[in-house]
Order: sequence, then structure tokens, then C-alpha cells
Amino acid sequence: MGAIERISGPLVIAYGMLGSSMYDVVKVGKDKLIGEIIQLRGDKAVVQVYEDTSGLTPEEPVESTFLPLSVELGPGIMKNIYDGIQRPLEVIKKKSGDFIGRGIVADPIDRKKKWKFIPTAKKGARIGEGSIIGYVQETGLVKHYILIPEGIEGTIESIKEGNFTVEETVAEVKTGKNENKIKITMMQKRSARKAAKFQKKVETNEPLITGQRISDTFFPVAKGGVAAIPGGFGTGKTVFEHQLAKWSDADIVVYVGCGERGNEMSDVLNEFPELKDPKSGLPLMERTVLIANTSNMPVAAREASIYTGITIAEYFRDMGYNVAVMADSTSRWAEAMREISARLEEMPGEEGYPAYLAKRLAEYYERAGKVVALSGKIGSATLVSAVSPPGGDLSEPVSQGTLRVVKTFWSLDSALAYSRHFPAIDWLRSYSLYTEQLEKWYTEHVSETFTSDRDEAMRVLQTEAELKNIVQLVGEDALPDNQRAVLELGRMIRESFLRQSAFDEVDAYTSMKKQSLMLSTILYYGRKINELIASGAKIDSIQKMKSRTALGRIKDIKEQDIEKSCSEIRKQIDGEVKALILGQQPETGNKAEQKVAAEENK
Ligand SMILES: Nc1ncnc2c1ncn2[C@@H]1O[C@H](COP(=O)(O)OP(=O)(O)O)[C@@H](O)[C@H]1O
Ligand SMILES: [Mg+2]
Repeated sequence: MGAIERISGPLVIAYGMLGSSMYDVVKVGKDKLIGEIIQLRGDKAVVQVYEDTSGLTPEEPVESTFLPLSVELGPGIMKNIYDGIQRPLEVIKKKSGDFIGRGIVADPIDRKKKWKFIPTAKKGARIGEGSIIGYVQETGLVKHYILIPEGIEGTIESIKEGNFTVEETVAEVKTGKNENKIKITMMQKRSARKAAKFQKKVETNEPLITGQRISDTFFPVAKGGVAAIPGGFGTGKTVFEHQLAKWSDADIVVYVGCGERGNEMSDVLNEFPELKDPKSGLPLMERTVLIANTSNMPVAAREASIYTGITIAEYFRDMGYNVAVMADSTSRWAEAMREISARLEEMPGEEGYPAYLAKRLAEYYERAGKVVALSGKIGSATLVSAVSPPGGDLSEPVSQGTLRVVKTFWSLDSALAYSRHFPAIDWLRSYSLYTEQLEKWYTEHVSETFTSDRDEAMRVLQTEAELKNIVQLVGEDALPDNQRAVLELGRMIRESFLRQSAFDEVDAYTSMKKQSLMLSTILYYGRKINELIASGAKIDSIQKMKSRTALGRIKDIKEQDIEKSCSEIRKQIDGEVKALILGQQPETGNKAEQKVAAEENK
């Protein structure tokens, strides 16, 4: 047992700590605040404390647990709202009121609740770490498989069905080496900072479907992939992360609110429990774990929250689930690293961040992936991180370190946000390096022409941007009509497809089927107006087409009506274009024909 020598903000320097190891968890002071050793020199340890250190005084005791920072895993974890070191906020609040008191211990997982355990492995079966021996139906949405913890291998000596708490024995394993039987419970602990083992990584070939058109259609992230959404204040990072947490087709969502303003986190805490899963109608919390670390909580806990989140994600990945981790914002995590590094008087790197910042970021994203788990099941962990560079300037170290490793980049633009084009994701600067490997999936699951439609739409947007540069110099009127038709189509793609309100009941989520139909209908319109211009019609005549209005409202069409409505819109376009072409050629068309066309027009 050691004692405090001095206190420096969230750090405590303790002496008499011989025998401890790096990253051991310690209890600091009379109140037993939770901390972690982050530096050892001789018998002295530097401890980062996860709770408010004010009030601590020198010579108070410091006690090592000789265990690394770990995460408790087992039935009872879903639906929880934790702080950065996995203390359940509800329980803490009950114990200490709204302001979290210090030194409060609370079990991350309920010890009293009984769960019905259904064995799937039999007596005599060979098992190893990560093997599945049974399950618990934890929530309506999650079947929680029970995995053999790390380091255990042998044969099952006994296993029983029944109602158990997470601390009761559900199976016994004989390890061969000695006669000791190891008791298996439904709970295990994993070290937070260490990536969990798996057999091998496999290629990510399926997109995380988010219901957000700019992501699903243009810049998808694969299940098991990594994406970042950097942007300045107010550009829409939090709203987009919420959208993904609500609508993405992950089996499990871990939402890490990391150091953002308190009220943003309370929005999550108030809103999420009300949300329903669109498929099953069950509460979304049944597949969600929230980790809430607001900026008014101690900085070290913020640093830990990211690791708590990914460790939970890996655990469910190992059961064969597709897990998504939304972190908002990783910049706050990096800032916590910077603050702690400064206190340690480490040599600062760029902008005061520690020299190991890029390495830490890379190590975190490396924990994403689609894997064959030790159980043989295939699962994935997708990481989607908001990054909040000061002033929105991506040249700073956290953005740079992130962009080096992520493969989907949603580039938020403050000018778009200012003009209320949401999501304010810049379609020209964003990219996804997954599109090629996902092509097959889209062709098989969406439509044969989907990826070529997407490419065509992207070319239109790029040409539109080039033309807009010219327009700035000479004005739109100076352009030939066929180029003005490109501008018209570009505008239609932006307004009717890319813009998507997170707050509109219908628009908030768009299925792949609807995305595909919306896009192909808009492109159909593009082809038709090209025909029209080619026939000699003037661009102004297009402005009168009523089908434009219908296209403008295409996002408001309900999922169940989309097929019918899109084919009606196509018919309407056909009719109007035909009428306009006829109107162009009065010498060939007779009056009656024009009248018919005009009728169709109505
Ligand atoms: N997809 C969206 N649909 C509608 N409004 C949005 C959308 N995204 C962002 N907004 C608007 O922008 C505001 C700021 O977004 P927010 O996500 O809080 O920004 P950030 O987290 O980047 O600071 C929101 O309160 C909302 O009004
Ligand atoms: Mg935000």
C-alpha cells in the first residue's frame, strides 16, 4: 500500500507503489477514488484519477488492485447508461443525487437479477476461450451468448439450464492439467485497453445501411469499417451520429458521448429511451448501450470512455453480431490525452498533443473489423467517429491522424450548414474507399443499375460544380442550354436527394429500395430534359414542368407508395416532355395532338 505524494489536477503521484504494474487500477485516498497507473518510476506511480481530485491531500493511502482497467461483460449490459469507467449512471444517481459523489462504487452489471440460461454445449464437449456454451434472451432484440473467458480450455464437466445470476455457476470445465474444475459464470471481465483476440479478419463486403442517403448511396461505410465525420461547431456531427445510432442496421449499438456539452448528452439520454426499432417496434434501447461522459465529468474518465465502448463492442462482435460504435467526439478524447500528457510533462508533439497521438488513434481504429471470432462466428465492429477540429480546420493533428486511418470520410461543410443544407456533408470532398468492395452487394441487394446510377449522379454533381465556377464569372444565362440542363439536374440531385431532414418523420430514414428509386427517377428526368433540349426546346420551358414539383417532393413519399409514385412521376415527365417537343414543332404537330398532350400535362 502506497500513499499520495502530490496531486496535479486529475493526476496523483503516489509513493510506495513497488509491485504494481502499468495500467493497474488503484484506489486513491480515503474515499477510494478510482484511478489507473499511467507511469511508474522506481516506487513512484503516476495515477490518472477518474473522479474529481479536489479535497485529496498528501499522505492519504493509495491501494493497488493489481488488475488492469477492465469492463464487465454479461447479461444485463444492454439498455445501460454508463459513465466512462462503466458505472451505471442510474445507480450512481440513486446513491448520490444528480451530482455524482466521489468514490461511489456500483456494479456495472446487476448481481441480483436472474437470467434464464439455455445451454447449447454438452457435457464432455471440448471448449476453449471464446467458445459459446449457451445463451440468455437478454432483451427482445438481443440473444446474449455466453462465451468462455480468456485463458480457459478443457472439457465441460457439467452444464445446466436454469435461472441464474451472473455470479452463479452455469458450467464447470476440467482443464486437464490439474484436477481443479473451473467454474464458469455468465459474466466475464476484459481488459479495456487491449484488443480482444479473434481468429482472423475477413473482407468487409456488406454496407452498414444507415437510412441516410448521402452515406448509403454515395459514401458508404462497410460493416466492420471505419468512418469519420469531422466538422466545425454546429455543422451536424451530433445529429448525424444520432441518426446512425437510431437507424443503422447494426445488431448492437454502442454510443459513446465523449466530452461533449452536457445538454447534448442529456438529449441522448432523454430521447433514446423513447425510440422504437423500425423493424420490430421494440424500444431501440434493447440493442443499445450508452456511455455518457460529458465535459463536466473528469477528464481521465473521458479518456477511458472510448476504450470502455470498444471493449463492449468486441464482446458482442465475438457472438457473431454486427456492432456499431458511434463516438462523439474523438477530439474530446484526444484533448483528454493532451491534458494528461502535459501534466506528465511529456515532450509535446504538434499543437501540444502527445507524440503518441497518431499511434493511439490508429490502435483504436485497428480494433474495428469483420472477424471470424474464436467461436467461429462471424461478427463485425464498425467505428464511426465525430471529430471536432477547432474552427473546422482539418489540418490539425486529431483530424490528420484520423483521416490517415479511416476509409469513409464525411466532410462537413460550414457553408452548407449555414445555408441549411443538411446533412451538411460536402459531396465533392467526401469519399468512401469501400465502394468497390461493396459493389457486388449493391448489385445483388439493391438493383443491377444502382452503382452505375450512383456514378452517373456523382459525375453530374462534379460537372455542376465546374459549371458553377463559370457561372460565377459570366452568369447562368451565358451558358448554352445543354449545360444549363446539367445545372438543373445537379440542383435536383442536391435538393431532392442529398438534402435529408433528420427531424421529418418520413425523411429521417430512407430504405435502399426507396433511395434507388428516387435516384433513378431523378436521373430519368435528367435524360428526358436532355432529349428536350436536343430537340431544340429552350431551357425556360422546363421551368414550367409540373413533374419538377413532384420530383421536389419525392423524399416525402412514404416507403409503401414509392414504387407506384415513381412510375407515375415518370409517366408525368414523359407526357410533359412529349408535349413540349410537340410544342417546339408546330409545323409537324396538328392542333388536336397538341391538345391531347396538354391534357396529359394536367
Ligand atoms: N440532418 C439534419 N437535418 C436537420 N437539421 C440538422 C441536421 N443536421 C444538423 N441539423 C441542424 O444543425 C444543428 C447543429 O447540429 P449538431 O449535430 O448539434 O452540430 P455539431 O454536433 O456538429 O456541433 C442541429 O441542431 C440542427 O438544427
Ligand atoms: Mg455535437
